[in-house]
Amino acid sequence: MDPGRASWTAIGTALMRAVHTRLDDPPLIEDTWGERLFLDEQPGTASARRDAEGLDARLRAHPSYGTVILRARYAEDALAEAVRRGVRQYVIVGAGMDSFALRRPAFAHEVDVFEVDYPATQELKLERLAERGIPLPSRLHLVPADLGEISLDAALAGAPFSGERPAFFSWLGVTTYLTRDANMKTLAAIASCAAPGSELVFSYLDQRVLDAEHSPLHETRARVAAAGEPWVSGFHPGWLGEHLREAGLALLENLGPEELAARYCAGRADGLTPSHGAHVARARPELQRGSPRFPHRASQRSQHVSTVQ
Ligand SMILES: C[S@@+](CC[C@H](N)C(=O)[O-])C[C@H]1O[C@@H](n2cnc3c(N)ncnc32)[C@H](O)[C@@H]1O
Repeated sequence: MDPGRASWTAIGTALMRAVHTRLDDPPLIEDTWGERLFLDEQPGTASARRDAEGLDARLRAHPSYGTVILRARYAEDALAEAVRRGVRQYVIVGAGMDSFALRRPAFAHEVDVFEVDYPATQELKLERLAERGIPLPSRLHLVPADLGEISLDAALAGAPFSGERPAFFSWLGVTTYLTRDANMKTLAAIASCAAPGSELVFSYLDQRVLDAEHSPLHETRARVAAAGEPWVSGFHPGWLGEHLREAGLALLENLGPEELAARYCAGRADGLTPSHGAHVARARPELQRGSPRFPHRASQRSQHVSTVQ
């Protein structure tokens, strides 16, 4: 992906959440911000644009549509649980047009939100908010970073993030766009800067589906590559626990399409379903602070903590 250009897939996923909120019954998430930021050029013009472009139908027919909705719901369920346990820091890695800080559900009033993404994607979001006269929410911290170039813990070191307090990390729809190496570094960075009690939720594609010549996602993969945001890597679901352990994380849950459909889609009449190969996983830091396994990272963290306090 061209780091100098705002992510169009981030706009697409935000619009999917808005269409789902409006049309699917019952909605699993309530998030209209994609349309507020990207369709409503003048108040009230969104529906005209949607009709003219047949946008609703195209978004709902997209192979990633169900996955985008289900991973958002899964992450917010886990976040709500983490906040109940006392977590007050939420790091959204590859946040794109995520609207959590704008929606700010009642359960999260005291939560600091850190949005990490390419500067160009963040600038577009800021521009759209400014054009609409919407002030930046309080307790929102923008952390510009190219995670292919800089590690997440280094990026967070420049923000008022505390490695002394537990945090909830979400990383939705991003691993596919990073190399395996960048993904492993990001997982290790999360392990190194996450205090005990922290948790991570992320989505990934089954590597076997990504590689298959005749996968139902083959066409979509070709389309996103042609548009400049290629799918680069996935994980093998059976080996995920091992990859996470290597990074210093323990796997808590690993749900594939069947499990996601059983949990969220049973009895629905609107056909909402996760796409082939889509997975969400939940993990926590495996090692306690100062573990000899990551001595270098542990000392980096204490330096970082002393600079942000
Ligand atoms: C498909 S969008 C998902 C956005 C959001 N998490 C969601 O679920 O709607 C992928 C996001 O990852 C970000 N991204 C991709 N590669 C990145 C990188 N190397 N560093 C930082 N952000 C990256 C893109 O800018 C984009 O916002």
